[in-house]
Amino acid sequence: MQRFQINSYKEYEKAYQASIDNPEAFWEEIAESFVWKKKWSKVLEWDFTKPEVTWFKDGKLNITENCLDRHLKDRGNETALIFEPNDPNEGAQYFTYKALHSKVCKFANVLKANNVKKGDRVCIYMPMVPELTVAVLACARIGAVHSVVFAGFSASALSARINDAACKVLLTADGGFRGTKITPLKDIADQALETCPTIQTTIVLKRVNNDVTLLKNQVWWHDQLKTVDDNCPAEIMDAEDMLFILYTSGSTGKPKGMVHTCGGYMVYTAYTFRNVFQYSCSKTNDFGRDYTRSSPKDVYWCTADIGWITGHSYIVYGPLANGATTLMFEGVPSYPDYGRFWDICEKHKVNQFYTAPTAIRALAKQDTNYADNYNLKHLKTLGTVGEPINLEAWNWYNDYVGKGKCPIVDTWWQTETGGIMISSLAGVTKDKPTFATLPLPGVQPVLLDTDGTIIEGNPAEGILAIQFPWPSIARTIYGDHQRYKNVYFSAYKNKYFPGDGALRDASGNYRITGRVDDVIIVSGHNLGTAPIEDAINEHPIVAESAIVGFPHDIKGNALYGFVTLKDIGSTSDQEALRLEINQLITEQIGPIAKLDKIQFTSGLPKTRSGKIMRRILRKIAASETDNLGDTSTLLNPECVQEIMDNVL
Ligand code: PRX
Repeated sequence: MQRFQINSYKEYEKAYQASIDNPEAFWEEIAESFVWKKKWSKVLEWDFTKPEVTWFKDGKLNITENCLDRHLKDRGNETALIFEPNDPNEGAQYFTYKALHSKVCKFANVLKANNVKKGDRVCIYMPMVPELTVAVLACARIGAVHSVVFAGFSASALSARINDAACKVLLTADGGFRGTKITPLKDIADQALETCPTIQTTIVLKRVNNDVTLLKNQVWWHDQLKTVDDNCPAEIMDAEDMLFILYTSGSTGKPKGMVHTCGGYMVYTAYTFRNVFQYSCSKTNDFGRDYTRSSPKDVYWCTADIGWITGHSYIVYGPLANGATTLMFEGVPSYPDYGRFWDICEKHKVNQFYTAPTAIRALAKQDTNYADNYNLKHLKTLGTVGEPINLEAWNWYNDYVGKGKCPIVDTWWQTETGGIMISSLAGVTKDKPTFATLPLPGVQPVLLDTDGTIIEGNPAEGILAIQFPWPSIARTIYGDHQRYKNVYFSAYKNKYFPGDGALRDASGNYRITGRVDDVIIVSGHNLGTAPIEDAINEHPIVAESAIVGFPHDIKGNALYGFVTLKDIGSTSDQEALRLEINQLITEQIGPIAKLDKIQFTSGLPKTRSGKIMRRILRKIAASETDNLGDTSTLLNPECVQEIMDNVL
């Protein structure tokens, strides 16, 4: 029998081998730990050439029964969710499994009362408050597909996402607290709704008490709750029914609505949550037949926003499927001061803490070492996600937060993979600074050279690819299966291509070296160059633009824009033009995509076929001009010198 929990390196090796030797038997045994309404007829069918992947075929379930109902008997009075508000004086809120179950059922009934049916898409544009978690689970309860849009996105980005998925209902709030600021979510939503014909109803949560007016087809969340009870049987879903859509940037074109399905996603996020973080529940838990380490129930905190995949998989679904206590935080690491994360860790006795390298770098940069002022003795596991972690940040995290005693799990994965793919298992497999280390059971990575040949042996460096499906792989891009095939399955035959490069050390540990496409990771956010360039090019006097990333102390990468103007003499006030360009980007995408540097130039280096040579621009932006490579084949080599002379 496969153990759900891996307790030692030996067990990891055994589980990994079993998952390679017989993946179906391996995942079948893991999947049996969950509540299914009907068992599957086949564990896995797959064909990466189409691509088509089916896990737990014909299996029937509802993920909320696994995240909520099945815990009611033994741990109904245990805390499921802790909410830490933006303002520490407001006081935390605690929701037991019973309370969360009741809230989810009630809100599911609100959705039903608003004509939301199985398969309908519901857009969620909300701050990090408990109602967001409730809304996500309420959709899943009735089989509606949630599409959470990060509350930092602009009206135009929101409406593009609503329209792409033809959402029927929008859930939003009067506003959201972020440090000293209030985001006027309702105003932004109203602006978006001007171009969203499919939205029939908008349900508005009162959070900040902003003075907002309800327009036609808009209702208050609290009024809706008055008319429903908390009895809501879970909709029976097929394992391959859609659970949610979540948008991620591509290197070209509009954002990709990645589709995740019910069965495989549940199994994989729950399994990886338990094992990567070594979360410990209590002596009796639902997977407890093989659970040996008993300690009081852990408190787990992931600092991500539920608007990103990390929040979906490792604030909501993975932890709750394990009966865990998961903490969500509304605010920012710098408010009221840079000690806030550690204040929360001390206050809630956090045991597992999962954050992004950009946050670690920002905290490490402060003159005061706030981490020293708080009692962090409860921390057992530290985690990072979203971008490569540099050695300096890793050391600071290890020394000042973990006090040299906490394993650090550097988890490599993506919106598309649904769950963690490469990572150490806290205290079970060894971590290695700046390395994500080893693949999880079921994950079969390879390194390829540029012509797609597998590089055997260690050490090695190349393009990362995965050659076998895992249960939570995204099944398609909503409404565009051809694009799904082109982006992920066409570069290398029969392999999933994530877009990252990696190296492998002599012991087989993987280190992710960064993107090999035109996606740039800024503060852990995935940004495609094309949509930003499109936004800039909307400016009436801009002719053309090219965006590249350059190294940044805190953000990891920042954005550098090279911009040509229709008439080079058309502006004397470059500073004003820079502000206008960033304003356009903020309107089209959101403030996260603003450029740090904007250089105006008379030309952009192009190949003879007219393609912009970003490789050269990247080197100039990173001040690596010693080795620009061959520029003689360019259409306009003269512009390279001009750009170098005026670099910012
Ligand atoms: O380039 C990799 C980087 O983030 C990308 C995925 O971004 P997103 O879909 O937004 O999901 C982020 C949260 C899972 C990857 O292709 N990335 C993610 N984790 C790591 C990482 N790069 C290096 N090390 C990591 N641990």
